Amino acid sequence: MTGENQIPSNEPLVDLDDWQDDVRNRYPDPAEFNPTDPAKKKEAFRDYRAEVRPSVKEFYRLNHSHQTVDFVRSKQAEYVPLQKRKMTLWEATEVLNTLVDDSDPDTNVPQIEHAFQTAEAIREQGHPRWFILTGFIHDMGKMLCIFGEPQWAVVGDTFPVGCRFSDKIVFPEFFAENPDCNVPEYQTECGIYNEGCGLDNVLMSWGHDEYLYHVIKDYLPLEAQYMIRYHSFYPLHREGAYTHLLNDQDRAMLPWVKKFNPFDLYTKSHTRPDVQRLMPFYEELVAEFLPETLCW
Ligand SMILES: [Fe+2]
Ligand SMILES: [Fe+2]
Repeated sequence: MTGENQIPSNEPLVDLDDWQDDVRNRYPDPAEFNPTDPAKKKEAFRDYRAEVRPSVKEFYRLNHSHQTVDFVRSKQAEYVPLQKRKMTLWEATEVLNTLVDDSDPDTNVPQIEHAFQTAEAIREQGHPRWFILTGFIHDMGKMLCIFGEPQWAVVGDTFPVGCRFSDKIVFPEFFAENPDCNVPEYQTECGIYNEGCGLDNVLMSWGHDEYLYHVIKDYLPLEAQYMIRYHSFYPLHREGAYTHLLNDQDRAMLPWVKKFNPFDLYTKSHTRPDVQRLMPFYEELVAEFLPETLCW
């Protein structure tokens, strides 16, 4: 059992989605903001940092101290060849659903429900089929958990490594513990990169976004690839940091990443999707874009 005072060393989050819930607290849904409601007004000015749960704070500390250039390179070497397993998307979905088996069903929704809620919200707004599919699969890189990666290497806001850590990243003070802070080459504004080099040449902290990008990149349009690869890059898409690394393609694609974010963040609902009713549509959608078997 995990109490607030009893944080396990490497896996501080009770549930992997505690991170996402925390992001939602940091960036509250603007649609719910009502300036004439005094309670809501107060909420808009509340101190986010003071409210962060100790387990989530510990999660950020681990993430910021361990995501280094060497770590990212080692994980890329391990995962990018996609030689872990061969699975259909539906097999992957089943495996991922085991992630919440032990947790409290009242507060946590299985991964598949977040997938359906995100995708259905996109579909309701009449977006193209590839966009709906992107919403459906965007978090399946959490498969990294199944392969034994610690929480701090699966979820969390992502950021470039190999150059100075922006103070726009949540809890920037935790980078003091990151060994890359002792490498002068990594601590200039551009670090090992050139200005305008483009994000494809930038090593991002390792997690579910980057991993899934490699799994699906041959099958979905560029817009979808960006949404998947950078959906947790809050320092860029919410805070405007790291724009000096972008190239023309990144600047053209950034609006799509921003367009995707509200569907990810603000569609969590306790109304459970009717999986049986939705399944035929999604089976057809997955078969339209993805091969029968995917390499993971
Ligand atoms: Fe995600
Ligand atoms: Fe998500």
